[in-house]
Amino acid sequence: MRKYNIALYIFLLSLLYITQGRKSGKQTSNEFDVLIFTQHWPLTACFLWKESSQKHSCSLPKRDEWTIHGIWPTKYNTLGPEYCNRSLPFNASALAPLQSELKENWIDIQNGSEPYSFWKHEWNKHGTCAVTIKALNNEFNYFEEGLKLLYKYNMIDVLAKANILPGQKYKVEDMLIGIQKVLNKRGQVMCAQNKKTGESYVSEIRICFDKTLQLVDCDGIYHFPTNCDRSKQIIYPSNVPTNHRVIQI
Ligand SMILES: *[C@@H]1O[C@H](CO)[C@@H](O)[C@H](O)[C@H]1NC(C)=O
Ligand SMILES: *[C@@H]1O[C@H](CO)[C@@H](O)[C@H](O)[C@H]1NC(C)=O
Ligand SMILES: *[C@@H]1O[C@H](CO)[C@@H](O)[C@H](O)[C@H]1NC(C)=O
Repeated sequence: MRKYNIALYIFLLSLLYITQGRKSGKQTSNEFDVLIFTQHWPLTACFLWKESSQKHSCSLPKRDEWTIHGIWPTKYNTLGPEYCNRSLPFNASALAPLQSELKENWIDIQNGSEPYSFWKHEWNKHGTCAVTIKALNNEFNYFEEGLKLLYKYNMIDVLAKANILPGQKYKVEDMLIGIQKVLNKRGQVMCAQNKKTGESYVSEIRICFDKTLQLVDCDGIYHFPTNCDRSKQIIYPSNVPTNHRVIQI
């Protein structure tokens, strides 16, 4: 009996050792399962930015389109890896040839922030983890691929093909099914809440790619398939939402 207890004790200790070791590993592994391509709806992104301070204003794209948030190498059921290589500093000059396209399509909604800060953030946090993929192996290629994916999969068009249009309300289920019908793959829909009015707005749509950049189902990513309230309708706004109900007299 006693021998058995000691064996069990040692077994549990080693389990603890293994799991703790993983958590405290010095260098986060840059391994991942899928690439998440995240687009955000600029009007909702602007709402969130303005929510965080009355002083904030937004830069919005000229066209009616979804814009890029980032390409995120990701392990299933969790976030990250992130910040994989600090010896790959962001270099603004490398993006000079893409600058005008990025300014419209990978736009920093947060007006007044440091030039390049949004791209620098995406590169440091996600791009440095994506470099193990040939098509994304440097900063220029990472950003150029983002643009290519947007031109092919802009959600304004994908949703329109499913008759989902700005200015209307939908069940998140309708959006998920619409994306699946048009792309033949399952994506993820994320919402933002207006705490004052209780309304929900569609904020991000994520689609997933394998390491050869083939579109795949997003099943298994964190919060799949949605964080939206499935019991109520969500708004796909055609204007920047506000906290103030318009009172008509
Ligand atoms: C980080 O990038 C540098 C420069 O390209 C490279 O030499 C190094 O092997 C990379 N480190 C890791 C952990 O991938
Ligand atoms: C930044 O990119 C430019 C243009 O590609 C290149 O000429 C320059 O050497 C790069 N700078 C660094 C520090 O890598
Ligand atoms: C952006 O911010 C600047 C001040 O930082 C302001 O002058 C400008 O009007 C703002 N642009 C928009 C579109 O609100």
